Amino acid sequence: MKILVASHLEPSAVRQLQQHYDVICAFDQPTADLSSLIGDREVLVFRSGVEITRALMDCAPELKLLVRAGCGLDNLDCEYVRKRGIVLRRISEPAAQAVAEMALALMFALARNIRQADAMLRHGEWAKETLEGHLLAGKVLGIVGAGNIGSRLGVLASTMGMEPIGCIADSTPAVVQTLREKGITVADFHTVLAAADFVSVHVPLNDSTRNLINGRALSLMKEGSYLINLARGGVVDETALYFALATGRLCGAALDVHEHEGQGQISPLAQLSNVVLTPHIGASTVETQQQIGVRVVEIIEAFVQQSEQQSERQSEQQCKQQSEQQSMTAARGETDIRVTAGALSHEMVRI
Ligand code: MLT
Repeated sequence: MKILVASHLEPSAVRQLQQHYDVICAFDQPTADLSSLIGDREVLVFRSGVEITRALMDCAPELKLLVRAGCGLDNLDCEYVRKRGIVLRRISEPAAQAVAEMALALMFALARNIRQADAMLRHGEWAKETLEGHLLAGKVLGIVGAGNIGSRLGVLASTMGMEPIGCIADSTPAVVQTLREKGITVADFHTVLAAADFVSVHVPLNDSTRNLINGRALSLMKEGSYLINLARGGVVDETALYFALATGRLCGAALDVHEHEGQGQISPLAQLSNVVLTPHIGASTVETQQQIGVRVVEIIEAFVQQSEQQSERQSEQQCKQQSEQQSMTAARGETDIRVTAGALSHEMVRI
């Protein structure tokens, strides 16, 4: 099996794959560079940070399996994957706990002015009086997208005495009941925004969520509240957020995902002291990446096994068909003549 690993993958997983397969590692390359590497590849492993476009997949006629070593599918042309019949495997479970914990970490950082305190002390400023923070206990946590990650965050937050309230696109009675059992009150989007002291965003990026947290949504949030985004950059309108923070309407924001990501990108929000910025590390824990690495290897091995079984079945079927044909031919007393180019030139077999 010929594999291209296009995003950082646990080294032990890469080594395991290399023992059995032909593996190219090209982490976080521009799509144009990947297109020159993908030509004969049958499997592509990727995370966020690379764009898996139709044009790229068109460069890989043998591509059979895509392994998304994480959750989001916003960097993949899913429609084209369906059309080409490429198998897609997504490993979303291991990252859920890591992202939920990171949301808590960012909430603590905001509530206790950790970023400012650290920066000031590095300059010799002992600003004990000006760095008074807030408790999280007793505060309302608004979860925009109370799915797998969002609901985990709700459970963690409620153990600390926060009151989680969340909205979810798929709010069937069964889903609402499950969330209630986890201690999360379900409400509509606007109610969540208006009720929360901290709003944490956990929706996938698609046409219906692009710029979901826009100027209007921010204006519905409580005066002095905080925003946390660990979903995708395009979900929050960063210009509107800048305005809400600069004018003091919001007290602070923490963003792990950004409109423009990658080496050398500096968000205008970095000018504001009440903003915490991290480089898309929500799922980046040693344990999470180890689990993901193990699953990547398992998925590829299972796929190879399935493909081998399938081709064995196919050749068995072909053999069966051939022997059936031969016995029918023999029964009719005929000779099977195969016409090849060589046969025609040397022996001029004519039927
Ligand atoms: C994910 O969608 O799983 C996360 O954004 C992590 C990643 O892909 O790097």
